[in-house]
Amino acid sequence: MSKILIINGPNLNLLGQREPSIYGRNTLEEINGRLSLLGQEWGLEVSFFQSNCEGMLVEAIQNLPGKFDGAILNAGAYTHTSLALHDAVSAVSIPVVEVHLSNPAARESYRHFSYLSGVCRGAVSGFGPMSYELALYWLASQAKGCEDFRGSPPGGSPRRKPQSFPKNAPDIQIAGDSSTPMTAKKAGATKK
Ligand code: DQA
Repeated sequence: MSKILIINGPNLNLLGQREPSIYGRNTLEEINGRLSLLGQEWGLEVSFFQSNCEGMLVEAIQNLPGKFDGAILNAGAYTHTSLALHDAVSAVSIPVVEVHLSNPAARESYRHFSYLSGVCRGAVSGFGPMSYELALYWLASQAKGCEDFRGSPPGGSPRRKPQSFPKNAPDIQIAGDSSTPMTAKKAGATKK
């Protein structure tokens, strides 16, 4: 079973009470609970780590190899400031997906630059808790191999029957990457 670590950075422990008009009313515990359930449905073992300290986040990323097969990283404000997190993600070879609840590109200019986008496998932003779920869905598809993955996407009915993709259907390309049909990759991100 593939193991995935969800890493959350500073102030994300305050979700639910922190600027709900931007970040929503779900607590981190609620978001994580839903990711655990989706992980079970998609055949993943999902674990969680949150810290407000940059060095702890660096260590969590350094410790991924050998213990986890992929990670989802919401580095909070460190996204826009941390060369150390950039270097940590660069140093590990497992896929790390950058995630944001809000859409930083549509917010203040100091949130437009990400130290992480260029070294993460892809990025999902702006969809609230579903940003994490979409990232997890992609990791699940990679764990199984795109062809064999039949999980219902987030928001889909868990009781829905698995459907096979018609053989002659065109590939769905979200951005940039021609290597796989299911790639939600931020344009310009460096492939790991
Ligand atoms: C955030 C966006 C960051 O700009 C901000 O500093 C956060 C949360 C998000 O999930 O939308 O703390 O990463």
